[in-house]
Amino acid sequence: MPLLRVDTVSHAFDYPLFENVSFTLEPKESMAILGVSGSGKSTLLHVCSTLLKPNRGEVVLCDHNIYHDNDDARLKLRRYDVGIIFQSHYLFKGFLANENVELASVISDRSIDKGILERLGIATFMNYRVGDLSGGQQQRVSIARVLAKKPKIIFADEPTGNLDDKTAQEVMNVLFEYVEKENAALLLVTHNQQLAKQCTYVRHLHLDGLKEES
Ligand SMILES: Nc1ncnc2c1ncn2[C@@H]1O[C@H](COP(=O)(O)OP(=O)(O)O)[C@@H](O)[C@H]1O
Ligand SMILES: [Mg+2]
Repeated sequence: MPLLRVDTVSHAFDYPLFENVSFTLEPKESMAILGVSGSGKSTLLHVCSTLLKPNRGEVVLCDHNIYHDNDDARLKLRRYDVGIIFQSHYLFKGFLANENVELASVISDRSIDKGILERLGIATFMNYRVGDLSGGQQQRVSIARVLAKKPKIIFADEPTGNLDDKTAQEVMNVLFEYVEKENAALLLVTHNQQLAKQCTYVRHLHLDGLKEES
């Protein structure tokens, strides 16, 4: 059973963004989505991750047809099974890094894997206030927070945008390892070709759907 099945999804705001987007993601699979700025990559990620009902098409996430299910089922899925890493991270700035990660684990009632903090290179500053950390450090805390709830599927919108190449690769290694070890899946929006080609699939978003070529 795929973790995510997207079937002929279309969406428009002021003008059509994309039409007939279809794909599936099985456990252990990852897909990179590339595309010019404004092509609708973030919108597609929102559609796939329970946040936005598309104009047309179906999204089946962990066996739930998410925009046909009631709001409760969708909220539950979002809380327990979906991990969303945004471009700008929404951490509680006045709290310690630790507290931000623990909060996620308390809400989902799942324990934190301390090894993940080591591999993200943030174990040593978990007692710092988030506001005192650099942008790159904050982004890694936000990724730890998402992994702390042990999601079945991760949606990441340019998660390494403000990291240097070496740190970006290390952070992606943690995400890829997580997907492999937990039988999860990853949908990644990125501009980084080097990182994109490490995914199972690389697709480009166009008005008429996802294509293998740009
Ligand atoms: N909630 C919204 N309401 C109206 N227009 C939106 C909304 N979200 C995004 N857009 C517009 O849709 C287009 C695609 O946005 P986005 O999905 O963020 O593209 P990308 O992530 O590929 O840069 C942009 O022109 C953006 O202004
Ligand atoms: Mg975007």
